[in-house]
Amino acid sequence: MAATNCFHYHLATIFSLAILSLPPLAFPATFTFVNQCSYTVWPGILSNAGTAQLSTTGFSLSSGASLPVPVPPSWSGRMWGRTLCSLNPDTGRFACLTGDCGFGAIECAGGGAATPATLAEFTLDGAGGLDFYDVSLVDGFNLPMLVSPRGGGGGGNCTVTGRAVDLNARCPAELRAAGGGGCRSACEAFGEAKYCCSGEYATPDTCGPSEYSAAFKSACPRAYSYAYDDGTSTFTCASADYVITFCPAPSTSEKSSERSSSALLVSSGGDLRVKPSFWSIFAIFVAAMYVAV
Ligand SMILES: *[C@@H]1O[C@H](CO)[C@@H](O)[C@H](O)[C@H]1NC(C)=O
Repeated sequence: MAATNCFHYHLATIFSLAILSLPPLAFPATFTFVNQCSYTVWPGILSNAGTAQLSTTGFSLSSGASLPVPVPPSWSGRMWGRTLCSLNPDTGRFACLTGDCGFGAIECAGGGAATPATLAEFTLDGAGGLDFYDVSLVDGFNLPMLVSPRGGGGGGNCTVTGRAVDLNARCPAELRAAGGGGCRSACEAFGEAKYCCSGEYATPDTCGPSEYSAAFKSACPRAYSYAYDDGTSTFTCASADYVITFCPAPSTSEKSSERSSSALLVSSGGDLRVKPSFWSIFAIFVAAMYVAV
């Protein structure tokens, strides 16, 4: 009897030590896509090279709908909204007027966004264990997008980025994409090195903002407007979840649109952000072992 108890006791100790020596458990983040546009948006998701694709790479999100997508630790990639999509009944191909990923289906399956497209870019667990994120207009604009961190903290300027303003209405004629397909970047419209930060303009010192990127920047001060716009456009957060909102209410400030998207989350039920800590799981495990002996 004593021998059995002793055996159990050692078993508990060995298990505890084995668990202690494991790397801290990493829990996936949740990215919740919210569509506040008055029309359907088809989000597209592309993982960076060397990073596995997520469980979905594209889906339909009707007006007013939201969808949480689990994202594994250390994921990096981008997401955007596709608009005016339809299935061609003759060819069976799915295609979108903006943001099309060229795959011919609702899933993008490794395809990136056709320009112009507003992009949200993420690197989770990057330098210093922080998440890096931004909203980019470097590849043009098709939809207003907002990225709002939820429940993160512990370092960095963990705040909402992007903007509700619809740049299509302010797009200069020479940047307008055909058929109302968004607002092109000056790089795409004119193909000149000074707009693309290429060739002799390929360094932060030689490539400054252009009159076009400056106009984007004044409309969306927190978004990337050209290639070397990092300082005012990249945000960091520690182990947060993120809400990606298309067409956040244009008449409200960024703060109130953040509030309304969080209200939407609450009403859609369920706290998606419960991440049990390593130590709480460890404590439960140890308690269970002692109850067992
Ligand atoms: C946010 O913090 C990061 C990392 O410290 C920094 O690179 C970036 O410039 C900051 N962004 C803003 C908008 O201040």
